Amino acid sequence: MPHTGLITLEQFIVDQQSLYKESRGSLSRIFRSLELAAKVVNRDVRKAGLVDILGNHGSTNTHGEDQKKLDVIANEVFIAALSKSGEVAVIISEENDDPVFIEGCENEKYIIAIDPLDGSSNIDVNASIGTIFSIYRRSNFAQPPTASDCMQKGKHQVAAGYIIYGSSTMLVYTTGLGVNGFTLDDSIQEFCLSHPSIQTPKDGKIFSVNEGNLQDFPDGIKRYVQYCKEKDKATNRPYGARYIGSLIADFHRNLLKGGIFMYPATEKMPNGKLRLLYECNPMAFIVEQAGGQASTGTGRILDLLPTNLHQRAPIYIGSSNMVDQCVQMLTEDDSLVNN
Ligand code: AHG
Ligand code: MN
Ligand code: MN
Repeated sequence: MPHTGLITLEQFIVDQQSLYKESRGSLSRIFRSLELAAKVVNRDVRKAGLVDILGNHGSTNTHGEDQKKLDVIANEVFIAALSKSGEVAVIISEENDDPVFIEGCENEKYIIAIDPLDGSSNIDVNASIGTIFSIYRRSNFAQPPTASDCMQKGKHQVAAGYIIYGSSTMLVYTTGLGVNGFTLDDSIQEFCLSHPSIQTPKDGKIFSVNEGNLQDFPDGIKRYVQYCKEKDKATNRPYGARYIGSLIADFHRNLLKGGIFMYPATEKMPNGKLRLLYECNPMAFIVEQAGGQASTGTGRILDLLPTNLHQRAPIYIGSSNMVDQCVQMLTEDDSLVNN
């Protein structure tokens, strides 16, 4: 694999440390734990077809969804590694009803939110899956942590990122100083800088949405999906449709190539499907840092104040001009459009 100067993730973080607002070394220690857990989960994902870790675990998570064995494994591995970093007071996970308070770390500064295995319906069919993480700072770390410490707006994230277990394994993250991507070189087991300073195109050519739910979408989104499929040379339409059902894979492709990912609210799911703290906020922070946008349809994702650890939010995320167009059509007055 060609390397762009062989800069490892660890070296990159050390080099950037003087630019961080956070205390020296804290983020390095958290990232070392994330990196270790990512390598362990990557190993398990790679051998999933060989050993008995595919399929359902036989339990359900807090959202009433079947947990896959790899969901459970990834959850345990990330929590165990992050608990040992010595920097994290509390971990909230899509897979746990309640926050995990780390013993002996009651006065530490950081909170981690994780979706340990995103795209789990794709595990059994060997398509890309991933881990999403997000880091917040506690406002008052003199007190023991509580669940309400975790109810922060996404704009207060200190860092966010994801690991995609795809045709290669990558870690992509931001600390608010742009977005950088690192590819795992299997032979030396190091994440090496492969995608420095990622910028997402302002105008993309891909739309990603579960069109099977179209009949339940708001009228404005039905119109936007139709708009994506219309022919128009000036705007490069029709756009290509790409949707695999792993946010991480759909997002990653669109981030690099330009596009929009949508998970609208429907009558059945008035807040959409994706979870604000584990999915929407980290991706929104990353996309904004790469020059894109993330909206609920009525406002910026990162401005939404969570009231529940597991709350969901509708999301329109990706290339800036595409999100603008989509939100404009969503909010257009239906009576004017129908006239
Ligand atoms: P998870 O595997 O963490 O539960 O997340 C699945 C999410 C997300 O990754 C994906 O974009 C979305 O569910 C797909 O939903 P549909 O199958 O309804 O399209
Ligand atoms: Mn997910
Ligand atoms: Mn998940």
